[in-house]
Amino acid sequence: MSADKPKIVVVGSINMDLVVRAAHFPTPGETVLGEQLVTTPGGKGANQAVAVARMGGRCAMIARVGMDEFGSTLVAGLKAEGIDCRHVMETEDASTGVAMIVVDAKGENSIVVAGGANRLLTPDDLFASSSVFADATVMVVQMELPLQTVHAAIQLARRYGCKIILDPAPPTKAMCPELYQVDVIAPNAQEAEVLTGQLAIEERVDKSVAMELLARGAGAAVLKLGPRGALVVTKDGLMQRVPAYKVQVVDTTGAGDAFVGALAVAVAEEIDLVSAVKLANATGALACTTPGAQAAMPRRDAVVRFMHEQGL
Ligand code: RIB
Repeated sequence: MSADKPKIVVVGSINMDLVVRAAHFPTPGETVLGEQLVTTPGGKGANQAVAVARMGGRCAMIARVGMDEFGSTLVAGLKAEGIDCRHVMETEDASTGVAMIVVDAKGENSIVVAGGANRLLTPDDLFASSSVFADATVMVVQMELPLQTVHAAIQLARRYGCKIILDPAPPTKAMCPELYQVDVIAPNAQEAEVLTGQLAIEERVDKSVAMELLARGAGAAVLKLGPRGALVVTKDGLMQRVPAYKVQVVDTTGAGDAFVGALAVAVAEEIDLVSAVKLANATGALACTTPGAQAAMPRRDAVVRFMHEQGL
């Protein structure tokens, strides 16, 4: 790992994704026959760590896995990406996290996570790993962990002067005010609806949702609006829409993680927020063109080439 690249700490989940493609999502009580089962690396935290590494960031991860084959396979995969896994701990008390994923004919996904070892990552684990923050520029955290651990990650990152990016996924209405005290909060429309009670389906609502997130304490809100692009709103009065890239969608799983990983790298490189979101948008779009989560994370050169091709 080259020390001249900015360092990003990802505090988050590691899951094995068990994926089945099907024509449509089952309705309650319905059985749907799908295609073959695919077992592939995932977890919002690990996906974001891989996105960071492939986008050119220096990444260290704090996480927990079980003492099982899924755990060792997943950690080996992260190490192969050049991610510092010295603070990825094992536990005997739970299995590695698993996500059951159905991908429909449109490439949309539906996910149920059995958190397992991710649920045993404690604030004390983070405090014991705090040295990892010392030379970090940005800390990224999501919500497949206990809320008090997310809170500890935010506290620690602030103590060490890191910029904080919160991906509030999966969201909960029980988010305490301290969790909004971040530099950037980056929900998708569904997540923003859980947090604010407003569904971002048109420009006027998008702005009101973003303003509500700022009112709760975030320095900037970046709404990931999928085919409607992204909206960037900051406390300094910036409000800008970033258009979506058009791609052939194969699988949207992990697209939001690709977005957040790229955003983290760009923020760490001190790229202005609107340009950072353009890069993140392109990274998320490209991730939709390939099956799987970590498997679909694009590399920086491919993202830059794609942006040139699109003329954006
Ligand atoms: O964001 C996609 C991820 O959500 C999947 O990889 C799955 O593991 C769940 O964490």
